[in-house]
Order: sequence, then structure tokens, then C-alpha cells
Amino acid sequence: MRTLPVELPGSEYKIEIGAGNLRDSLLSAIRQFDPERVVTVTNSTLEQFYPAQIKKLLEPEGYQNDTCILPDGEEYKNLETLQRIYDFLMEKKANRGTVMVAFGGGVIGDMAGFAAATFMRGIKMIQVPTTLLAQVDSSVGGKTAVNHPLGKNTIGAFKQPNHVSIDLEFLKTLPSRELQAGYFELAKHGLTHDRELLDFLQEGKLEPLDLDFLEEAVFRSCRVKARIVEQDETEAGLRATLNFGHTLGHLIETHCGYGTYLHGEAVGTGMLFAAFLSKQEQLLDPSSWETIREFLEPKLRSVSLPQLDYDLFSSLLLHDKKASREAVNFILLREIGSCFIQKEMPLDLIWKHFTGFCKEFPNLCQLTTD
Ligand code: NAD
Ligand code: GLY
Repeated sequence: MRTLPVELPGSEYKIEIGAGNLRDSLLSAIRQFDPERVVTVTNSTLEQFYPAQIKKLLEPEGYQNDTCILPDGEEYKNLETLQRIYDFLMEKKANRGTVMVAFGGGVIGDMAGFAAATFMRGIKMIQVPTTLLAQVDSSVGGKTAVNHPLGKNTIGAFKQPNHVSIDLEFLKTLPSRELQAGYFELAKHGLTHDRELLDFLQEGKLEPLDLDFLEEAVFRSCRVKARIVEQDETEAGLRATLNFGHTLGHLIETHCGYGTYLHGEAVGTGMLFAAFLSKQEQLLDPSSWETIREFLEPKLRSVSLPQLDYDLFSSLLLHDKKASREAVNFILLREIGSCFIQKEMPLDLIWKHFTGFCKEFPNLCQLTTD
């Protein structure tokens, strides 16, 4: 098991990464927090694959655990489902001494994290991420949120976890499509901040699963994220670079309906577009662009965007139908492993390059009329 500390003054925590390490990692954190009770938040799919997983670990050690089982899917990442967590916490008489365990992917981690941030003005929480995406990205750094119909992750809070237990064994039951989606967020950390991580990924293969390769990749990915979060916990500047690929990614998710494309898939398309934009604006050299294209293109899923015109594109980027601003900040690449925030990039310029991107990659991204 490898340990990565996150050094945030007043909210330090450890990320523990291994295979088959859940029991040791979780129990040692729970013993340290010594909670009055534990509430686990998970979903119906995890409960099917791993019935009462957390309860079975904790109850023999004398910790009472109640499990809140939510419906599965990005389309349930909303205020209504959040209310179910609060209802459950109230029914079970949870209090400030309760520790919450988020057992699942990024959807569960983000929703449970937001519930833990707000219930009784904040209770302790442990992330047990079970998807590759959650292990390399969402379980670390304390962004929690639910979606609004008009904008992804628009209602949320910063709430660092008190501990993160990453057990790679869970990836053995993860569908291949989900694995691939998580791989894009892993590659994001290499593309934007760590050339060596990208080189490492290019040397290995995601499938068939190789847990040694993944342990190293997850460790490096969490390290990139942890170092950035330590410098800019609440996204005053630097942390925004972790949103590379997310401008178009969030637009795809919101416009096509949450759950139509997986978050990681939408971000993957967004990353290729952000690299394309960087190349078109002569900020990224053609040979780095080619390397990125060769790496990403074969892994991407085809995305179809119905009835998307400039007005809708703009309002989706601005999260506001009546917004009068004509520009957004955009994360671009300078080279592989180095990115920057292009402030106030004009929307018409982004649209021009986006339509060019759709023409160059008709099999990956189509604007359709139906
Ligand atoms: P997800 O949570 O929906 O999980 C994907 C699917 O895999 C679900 O059907 C889930 O039930 C299933 N699953 C989970 N673990 C499994 C396992 N071990 N075996 C079999 N099936 C399993 O999706 P995700 O990709 O993990 O997370 C996406 C979400 O994360 C998005 O909502 C995104 O906004 C959010 N996110 C948050 C951050 C952050 O910093 N907080 C960063 C990136 C993404
Ligand atoms: N996933 C981007 C961030 O955590 O800042």
C-alpha cells in the first residue's frame, strides 16, 4: 500500500492506494476518528456487486453502520437525491459525531461529500472510490456538488475528505466503458501537469487490467492533483487548470442530457478539442498536437450534438440564457505537461474552432439537425 499525504493546513489527510487494502486502510482511519456511528452512502449497483461491503468490515469491530442506498446514475446527481441522504441521516439520528463513508464512483463521492459538508454544518467523511475516475480524480481535493438542469456541478461546496482509501481490486468489476472514461481524467493530469505521467501511460495498457501499472498511475495522478490542491484549494487560479477539457465536456453533458455520455468521455472529447484549439492558435506545436491526437483519438467515443447553434453554445458555456458576456476563460496547452488559463477567450473564436474541429473529426463530434 502506498500513502500520499495531502498537506492542507488544518485539513491534512492521507490517500492510501493499494490492492486489497480496504480493510486495513478504512479500519485504521475509523479507529482514529472513533465515531459514534457510521453512515455509508452508496448506490444500488455497488450494493449488488458488494453487498453490505462497509458494514461487514465495520460492525465486527464494534462500529454501527447504516447504509443509504441511492439510485445509480449521473441523472440522479441532483437536489432531490441529496434530500434522500439528509432524510436518511435524520432518520438514523446522525449527529456531528457521525462519520460518512462514500462508497462508489464520482457521483456518490460528490453527493455524499456535499451532504457531509452541509449536514449539521459539516461532519467527517471518508472517500472509498470504486471507479478509476474517482480513484484518480474526484475522491481527492474536496470538490463536492450536485447538478442543476441548466449546469453541471453548479450547486456544491469545498469539503476535503478526512481520509481516502483507494482499493484497486474494485476495478475488476468496473465495466470497460467506465474504465476508459476514467482513463481520460488520468491522462488529463499527465497532459496538463506531468509529461512523465503521460509517457508512463503511453508505455502501458489499460486493459487487461494490470494492478501494478494502475497503482503507479493512480499514485502519480493523485500526486499531481494533491500538489495543486495544496497550492490552491478553492480554485482561485491554478486549480482551474484541472478543468482542462471540461468547458466542452460539461457542455456535452448538459446539452445531451446527464448520463447520455459518461463524464470522462465528454471530458476526453473536450481535451482533444482544447488541444486542437491550442494548436490552431499556434500555442501548441504541431508535433505535440500529433502526439496528443494519436493518443486520444482512438480512445474517444463518438459524440452527437443535436441542434447546437452559436446562441445555444454560448449560453451553455456561460450557464446563463441572458448573459451578456462574450468570453470565457479556457484552459489551453503550451506543451505536453504544461498548460495555462487563457483569460476571456471570445466565444465566437471558440465556436469557429469548434465547428472546424467537428469538420476535421466528423466521426468523433457531429452537429446534427434532429
Ligand atoms: P459514476 O459514479 O456514475 O460511476 C460509474 C458507474 O460505475 C456507475 O454505474 C456505478 O454504479 C458503477 N460502479 C462504480 N464502481 C463500480 C465497481 N467497482 N464495479 C462495478 N460498477 C461500478 O461515475 P464516475 O465516472 O465515477 O464519476 C463521474 C462523476 O464524477 C461526475 O458526476 C463528475 O462530475 C464527477 N467528478 C468530480 C470531480 C471532483 O473533483 N469532485 C472530478 C471529476 C469528476
Ligand atoms: N476535477 C477538477 C478539480 O478537482 O479541481
